[in-house]
Amino acid sequence: MINNQPIGLFDSGIGGTSIWSAIHELLPNEDTIYLADSKNAPYGKKTKEEIIALSIKNTEFLLEKNVKLIVVACNTATTNAIKELRDLYKVPFIGIEPAIKPAAIHSKTQTIGILATKGTLSSELFNKTVEKYQDTHIIEQIGYGLVELIENGELNSPEMEKLLHSYLQPMIEANIDYLVLGCSHYPYLIPLIKKIIPNHIQIIDSGEAVARQTQKIIEEKVGKHDVGKSNAIFYTNTNPKVLTEILKNKFKVIKQDF
Ligand code: SIN
Repeated sequence: MINNQPIGLFDSGIGGTSIWSAIHELLPNEDTIYLADSKNAPYGKKTKEEIIALSIKNTEFLLEKNVKLIVVACNTATTNAIKELRDLYKVPFIGIEPAIKPAAIHSKTQTIGILATKGTLSSELFNKTVEKYQDTHIIEQIGYGLVELIENGELNSPEMEKLLHSYLQPMIEANIDYLVLGCSHYPYLIPLIKKIIPNHIQIIDSGEAVARQTQKIIEEKVGKHDVGKSNAIFYTNTNPKVLTEILKNKFKVIKQDF
């Protein structure tokens, strides 16, 4: 089935571009429209009601652009709002949940770490997932301040390094062998995280899994784009500098109030 409508993605800011990259790599013919709601970042500090309201606003924006499905490229929005979005709209939604399952299944020390926002770690969806893995010791750490620094383009600053040290050291001491990145912003910190944690600790993020799920929904439900050159447009409601840089100046970024 052919469907040339674009894929829509939204995030509280630039972090979801890590998910966008995985989708663009797996599905290079698909057009994409990405919405960075950086003005309202971080979502992780907001109430569930606020996160739902922002997710509805973002969905309406993407639906006006005629998208065929929506990827909620934000863990905090997925864990707090995806059920409400699915109840309200017909368009398929794909979310990202922290990859607790593969980490818990493969851990040899039966101890894993998860770094995520307060909004994700306190959500009902996350806590229900954790309950399924009672034999695994799951060390939860809120990444206070990380999203703000990433939105500022500070992926490597001394402050970032100090924060990461303080969050990861207790996990290293507890003998984790898997570290789950439960926020779509955090894959941009992998080079720095690798300098801090020992080599044997595996880092898991959700980009590839979300891309495969998007491919499945496109093939089974909504239809795929014809072969040909694809188009990617990024919208932001703040200064586009950091988003443009993170995309290596290769894609069109539009600043718009929403
Ligand atoms: C945030 O806005 O606090 C982070 C987004 C995420 O959880 O992926």
